[in-house]
Amino acid sequence: MKILKNKIKIIRPDDWHLHLRDGEMLKSVLPYTAAHFGRAIIMPNLTPPITSVSDAIDYRDRIKSNLIGKENFEPLMTCYLTDHTDPDEVERGFYEKVFTAVKLYPARATTNSEFGVTKWNNVHGVLERMEKIGMPLLVHGEEADPEIDIFDREAFFIDNVLSGWVRNDFPALNIVLEHITTKEGAEFVKSCEKNIAATVTPHHLVINRNDLLAGGIRPHLYCLPIAKRDKHRRALRSAVTSGNRSFFLGTDSAPHTNSSKESDCGCAGIFNAQNAIEIYASVFEEMNALEEFEKFASLNGPNFYGLEPNREYLVLEKKNHRIDEEIELPDDQDTIRPFLFGEELNWRVVDG
Ligand code: NCD
Ligand code: ZN
Repeated sequence: MKILKNKIKIIRPDDWHLHLRDGEMLKSVLPYTAAHFGRAIIMPNLTPPITSVSDAIDYRDRIKSNLIGKENFEPLMTCYLTDHTDPDEVERGFYEKVFTAVKLYPARATTNSEFGVTKWNNVHGVLERMEKIGMPLLVHGEEADPEIDIFDREAFFIDNVLSGWVRNDFPALNIVLEHITTKEGAEFVKSCEKNIAATVTPHHLVINRNDLLAGGIRPHLYCLPIAKRDKHRRALRSAVTSGNRSFFLGTDSAPHTNSSKESDCGCAGIFNAQNAIEIYASVFEEMNALEEFEKFASLNGPNFYGLEPNREYLVLEKKNHRIDEEIELPDDQDTIRPFLFGEELNWRVVDG
């Protein structure tokens, strides 16, 4: 990595948590990720979800066929874990290099999670097999029980579910706790062995729950897990800039149309693919930790997944620009609003 007065040059980063959707939405959002990132872990929560090797091959083909001019971008596919997932199917997908990982959604915890896991016993056999073959489990770490307060669901899941698997049931399973939002999440990961890691989104490093709710409700800042108190945002900022190898970049860019966000029952998900890397750069600069940026963005993820870092580079320059581009979807005349729409950023990708 090179840090000059107004520029930084890093190994091309990867996005270890991304929603690309399908059809016209896929076509519209994919170029933004492919412009900056070398690879991305593609979330399987389509309707219906990606649950078999053949679904994943077809979805990967649809992604690749939309990569005009950016054919080097590599989508890494995941299998959506259900109560009925067959361990043999998961293992075959892993050995055939179709599945990079399995994604666990507790049923009804988030967008398109209704096919997720209802009882941990139902997936015991799959997790056992994954532990044996060294296949990572990516966890949406929120308890889905409607009785539990939405702001406590991550901490509850860590205490009551994850700690048990990690310490008792599957101590050697490679687990990524996706998009952590709490101090408890960061501390849990720090306290574990190297087989437990976490991704952190740009938005959870920037906003807290006041930004979402005080002075008016902001549907474009609503995502799951929901943004928490500021002490949690500060804990996440310290964790990612600390140089600890267990934290890496995962944008959780999750596009929804403006009409589905600005509604009586608005969808959860923030679309940040356009400017994610620039927002992360600002956070590292604000924390006086630019020298740790490349580890978080480009090295820790491949290291955890047992992959080589990318060979290409990305250059960012200190340059103000306003986020003013909404994405127009051709068919239904709807638009997708990016995270921090209308605001100024102080870093810009200039070569990639
Ligand atoms: C994601 C989505 O829209 O698919 N939404 C979100 O708020 N992050 C699902 C998820 O990652 O929880
Ligand atoms: Zn997600």
